[in-house]
Amino acid sequence: MKRIVCKNYDELSRVAATYVARQIWEKPDTVLGLATGGTPIGLYANLAEMHRQNDLDFSKVVTFNLDEYYPIPKENRQSYDFFMWDNLFSHINISKENVHIPDGTAPDAELECAAYDKMLADIGGTDLQVLGIGVNGHIGFNEPADYLEFSTHKTSLTESTIAANARFFATPDEVPRHALTMGLGAIFSAKTILMLISGENKASVVKEMFSDRITPQNPASMLQLHPNVVVILDQAAAKLL
Ligand code: PGA
Repeated sequence: MKRIVCKNYDELSRVAATYVARQIWEKPDTVLGLATGGTPIGLYANLAEMHRQNDLDFSKVVTFNLDEYYPIPKENRQSYDFFMWDNLFSHINISKENVHIPDGTAPDAELECAAYDKMLADIGGTDLQVLGIGVNGHIGFNEPADYLEFSTHKTSLTESTIAANARFFATPDEVPRHALTMGLGAIFSAKTILMLISGENKASVVKEMFSDRITPQNPASMLQLHPNVVVILDQAAAKLL
């Protein structure tokens, strides 16, 4: 895994945006895997700015988001659908039909997940997958466990993820207990994985992720098996490396 340590969050966001923009300039019909959470907000702000200032063109770009709470309506401000439109899609020239996010209102979660995997397989996987990491090492909502799932699936959130995400909700009780998430198969379908990690609270999980121990108890450690991973960290997150 290639490591790039940045001075701070702003620099991390700019460096990440340069990676994504270069990918789109080289391949205008890029299939992007996208992530939500606090970390990629700066990346998305930079991409929106590059669209405004430099005509970075998203008209042929196709996106697949990693995950969505379940159940949750799209209008809910905490849904990842709302997050993506608010932070990125409303500010760029992407076609609505090229945006894919697991449907948090799907009546049948299993069917929704199978259809999501089929769309991803039909398009040949993602060219570039943006990823964050949970304080517990989760990627997407693939939480630490005895085994990890290959396919997109419905999953239960762990207590540590509920606690970490409670900052976005009025009370911890409002955090949905389930989510639909890409499995390891879809994440590993990416030709390149771009992982963004910021903050001292991630330092110990980052250390574990880069250790010699590849374990489903730290799902991010699995990324060591992918041939093309770029990890962009700020100094706080890289503190224990
Ligand atoms: P964060 O979330 O960017 O809000 O820290 C990352 C994640 O949970 O994957």
